[in-house]
Amino acid sequence: MSTKGHVIKCKAAIAWEHGKPLVIEDVEVAPPQAHEVRVKIVATGVCHTDWEYLHGRGKGMKFRKFPLVLGHEASGEVESVGAGVTKFSPGDKVIPLFLPQCGECERCKSTKTNQCRKNWANTQMGVLADGTSRISYQGQQVYQFIGVGSFSQYTVVPDTSLAKIRSDAPLDKVCLLGCGVSTGYGAALNTGKVEENSTCAVFGLGAVGLAAVMGCHAAGAKRIIGVDINPDKFAKAVAFGATDCVNPKDHCKPIQEVLMEMTGGGVDYALECVGQPAVMSSAFESTSDACGTCVIAGWTETEGLTLQIEKLLLGRTLKGTYFGGWKSAHDVPKLVDAYMNQKLKLDEFITHTLPLDRVNSAFDFISRGESIRTVIGLWSRSEGPTEFRAPVAPVDDVNEFSTTGECEGSK
Ligand code: APR
Ligand code: ZN
Ligand code: ZN
Repeated sequence: MSTKGHVIKCKAAIAWEHGKPLVIEDVEVAPPQAHEVRVKIVATGVCHTDWEYLHGRGKGMKFRKFPLVLGHEASGEVESVGAGVTKFSPGDKVIPLFLPQCGECERCKSTKTNQCRKNWANTQMGVLADGTSRISYQGQQVYQFIGVGSFSQYTVVPDTSLAKIRSDAPLDKVCLLGCGVSTGYGAALNTGKVEENSTCAVFGLGAVGLAAVMGCHAAGAKRIIGVDINPDKFAKAVAFGATDCVNPKDHCKPIQEVLMEMTGGGVDYALECVGQPAVMSSAFESTSDACGTCVIAGWTETEGLTLQIEKLLLGRTLKGTYFGGWKSAHDVPKLVDAYMNQKLKLDEFITHTLPLDRVNSAFDFISRGESIRTVIGLWSRSEGPTEFRAPVAPVDDVNEFSTTGECEGSK
């Protein structure tokens, strides 16, 4: 039976309050309104930012509303479209976008920024254009994290917050292009504009940092120094192209001084992929004072960034990046192509795969620094066949879910 036009009952992991584990609940997902698309979520990565909004202490937490469906790094298929939607049809493979691209505003028309503001204030608060979300629990509105809310089997997003991708893309992998990998890769290529034969330092070797390493490597950097306080991250960083790895804990002096010495005067590019003010300062100060560029890719809402302005005056550049500078709807399908053409790695980021009802374990892995990315499959094996390929998860976690999203109800 077609679900078009009907409320869909499905499972979602709900954050009921700050700092508490998510709870799997039966929710209702309303049909899409005008210029909205209802998406069957097939796979979702669990990003540090999801963890941060559940456990973090930043000032932005004060206005975050609960109950909330977290998750913003996902892939799926279009289930149905609202009135006026012309670019998407049921069955299309898609990646939801927390950064929209309306294509019409001044910023979308500018080549200098990807910061479209369509529906921005609302989606930041977890609701869509009309000020409400489409997900509810027993009649109570459930907010959609940054307008997405992918820890749910179905969600609804604006048609300007969705990228249509090729039909042969494996959804269990390309979901990572919805946030972390795109952010780090673009931070190096689009924002830093890393040059051939340059020297780079990447602070933080999680998914964002490894993607930044991958970007520096793609740009032809001759030296890429990975910096992390967790040495377990080093082997993977080398596999992504790092030439050296440094643990700040192994040194008595500040890491920026260590890097200054290692490079004889500072790196050409420093990429901060941790999201901590103190690390941002270190990254900035590790660049060459004459012409070094520091790109801040890590996200923080905590205060305390101190920058010594005299360190800027001789010629350093400090830049921020958001979603790696990519024009979201236009560029994400191209990143999918790059993956399909073996120009960009994704599989190597996935350390764990879990079904939705074990999403809290993914947060535990982040807390303990054990994962790069956990990919959550939204549909259990009993609900359909699995096409999960080359899993690198613990054996007992493999194939517990379907990443095709196929189930009897969807046929
Ligand atoms: N110096 C260097 N590395 C550090 C430090 C530090 N002081 N503190 C933490 N790290 C390392 C961690 O050990 C970890 O390997 O930073 C890495 C962060 O990786 P993840 O937690 O996996 O985070 P990721 O998903 O990569 O996101 C990084 O980007 O999108 C934002 O909110 C996100 O701010 C976060 C950042
Ligand atoms: Zn993210
Ligand atoms: Zn726009």
